[in-house]
This record gives sequence, C-alpha cells and structure tokens, in this order.
Amino acid sequence: MANNPFKYGTIVQEPYFTDRKEELATIKESLNSANHLILISPRRFGKTSLILKAVHATKRPYIFINVQRAVSTADLAELIVKETLKRYPLERIKSFLKHFRIIPTISINPITNGIDVTFNPGVDSNILLEDALGLLEMVSTKKERLIAVFDEFQEILTLEKGIDKKLRAIMQEQSLVNYVFLGSQESMMTSIFEKVKSPFYHFGQLMHLKKIPFEDFHQYVQEGLSAVTTESNDLAKRILNITGCHPDYIQQLAASVWDLLNYKKLDREADAVDTAMTQLIAVHDLDFERLWTGFTKNERRILRDLATLGKLSSKDGYATSTTYSTASRMLKAGYLIKTETYEIEDPFFKNWLLTRLS
Ligand SMILES: Nc1ncnc2c1ncn2[C@@H]1O[C@H](COP(=O)(O)OP(=O)(O)OP(=O)(O)O)[C@@H](O)[C@H]1O
Ligand SMILES: [Mg+2]
Repeated sequence: MANNPFKYGTIVQEPYFTDRKEELATIKESLNSANHLILISPRRFGKTSLILKAVHATKRPYIFINVQRAVSTADLAELIVKETLKRYPLERIKSFLKHFRIIPTISINPITNGIDVTFNPGVDSNILLEDALGLLEMVSTKKERLIAVFDEFQEILTLEKGIDKKLRAIMQEQSLVNYVFLGSQESMMTSIFEKVKSPFYHFGQLMHLKKIPFEDFHQYVQEGLSAVTTESNDLAKRILNITGCHPDYIQQLAASVWDLLNYKKLDREADAVDTAMTQLIAVHDLDFERLWTGFTKNERRILRDLATLGKLSSKDGYATSTTYSTASRMLKAGYLIKTETYEIEDPFFKNWLLTRLS
C-alpha cells in the first residue's frame, strides 16, 4: 500500500519539499559570495528544510549547529568541534586541535557510535569558543569554503551576556567561512541583526522567508491526493484556504485527509477536509481550552476579531494603541504571526475558536 505523501513537524526534503525556487537561487548566490546570510520567519515556515536543501546542492562541506541544544558557552564550543569532526577526517583535525589552548577530550560513544567532545569543566569558556570557531577557519579552504549554519540562533542570547559581541568579534576576522543564521522568533532575531547597537547589525544578507505561493503548494497537495480521490483539485484548495497557506499546517491537514481517503473512512469524499479538521480539533480540544482560559480579556478579543473578521479592530472601546501593543506581545509569544496582516498562528486553534464562538 502506498505511503502517506505528506509530512509535517520536522525537516522535509524531496519528495516532501515543494517550490522555493527563487529562495534557493538567492541563497545559492549568497553562499557563493563572501557574505553571510540571515534567514528569519515565523515558526515552521520551512527555514531549516530550505537551508539544508540549498547547502546540499552546493556539495560543499558544512556544519549544522542547533544552538537550542547548547545550555552554556562551553556546550556550544563542544558542539562546534563535534560537528566539525563529523565533516573532516580526524587526522586532518588533529593537527589543528593541538593548537587549542585547552585541548578537548575526544572519545567514541559506544552506544551511539558517535563522537563525543568534552572540555574540562571550569575552564574559561571564552577561550573555548574562540578556539572552536577558529577551528572552522582552519579546516576551511578557499576552494571548498565551509558553510556553518547556526539554527535557532536567537538562543545565543540565553547562553551568556555579551556572547553576541564575542561571536561577532571572532567571526568578522575570518574569511573562509560562510555563516548562516536561522531564527524563528522574529522579534529577537530582528533585534540581533537589525538594531543599530547590536554587534551583529548588518552582519549579512537578511532574508525574510514568506509562505509558499498558493498555486505552487496547491499543485503539490493536489498531486499527493490524486491517487486516493477524484476530487483532489477542490480538496487541495480547501486545505490551503483553511490553513491560511501555512506550510506545516497544510501538510498536517493534507496527511489526515489522505488517511481518511486512503482507508475509505468516509461516505462522501467531498467531506474529507471538514472531517479531518473536526478530528484534529477534537484531539487538541483540551489544550485549546486551557490556552483560551489563559488569555486576558483583551487578548481574547484580539483572537476573536482575527478569527472572525480576519483583522484587528478597535471596537468595544479599546484604544488602537492598546490593541497593537497587545497584538505585538502575542506576536512575540508566538500566538500570532505577521504576514501582510496579523494572523492566528495555529489554524486549528482558529477553527476551534470559530466553532466555539458560533
Ligand atoms: N518547501 C516546502 N515544501 C513543502 N512543505 C514544507 C516546505 N517547507 C516547509 N514545509 C512544511 O513545514 C514543516 C516545517 O519545516 P521546517 O522544520 O523546515 O521549518 P522551520 O521554519 O525550520 O521550523 P522551526 O521554526 O520549528 O525551526 C515541514 O515539516 C513541512 O511540513
Ligand atoms: Mg527549523
């Protein structure tokens, strides 16, 4: 039996990856230049998937660091060395490690078969970071420049005060590494790279990732559904409309719709999207209830207006400034996203709200 052609919640590559042709071309150009790249979008718009695809296409060596996995500066330094060891032969790296002021212990983890890198605790983490980043410049060559991707980069601010300044000071001296910074919290990423006072101000080419255009995504969803229904065209349209064209939610809903159709759990194929939506909302009912209860009156009003009117409004006697400052807090917290307008991030939550409010 065929497998579900839709995938969500994690990095996607072929055959689950669609479109992004222009973005891929822009990223390719950037990686071929001496500039660094910053990619920002709301959560789960496809940053990681896109960057990995672009990086693979260059066939150049790369390391991928998820900053969220580090809880300290020393941790980050260990991650950097560890990832570098995965990409280059140990023999080559050894000679560079000798120059480290604090030499790490490298061991094979017998359980994962992976390599572990540890520094003795208590040493100056600045030195570790300097040496770890220095390693990147040393292993890289003019012919095959290393690409270093830092995902969830806004998390560095939680590691240590002033770490952004240190990172920047080291990175700006280097010339053989292309740095790529990804981040999902729009405001934090923006303040790291767009605030004049920030050390990373104008450090690279800034790219704001948008949703995938309706037509392109429609074709992808339709093709995926076409094996299990004759109504793939309409159903695909409905999936895109109801999810507000959010890549991750499209794939999630499409996967459920595909399941219903493939296992013939419906009387009428045309009901597939509504049935899937009802089921998905039911699964999250308790979470949504809890979420809703936790919002203030003002926040609830904003959610209601966005769900029913599709925009912010200042009826009910609230000042416009109050509305916008609350919306901007909800944006930072991830409940809303901002595209051309404000939107409720989770279309399932939005639909839960709509059934509740009606
Ligand atoms: N080009 C694409 N084609 C089809 N689906 C995509 C594409 N990009 C992203 N998606 C959908 O979005 C989901 C999230 O993608 P990804 O993890 O790359 O996003 P992200 O922006 O890195 O997310 P996060 O904010 O959690 O780091 C994927 O699982 C997939 O369902
Ligand atoms: Mg990601």
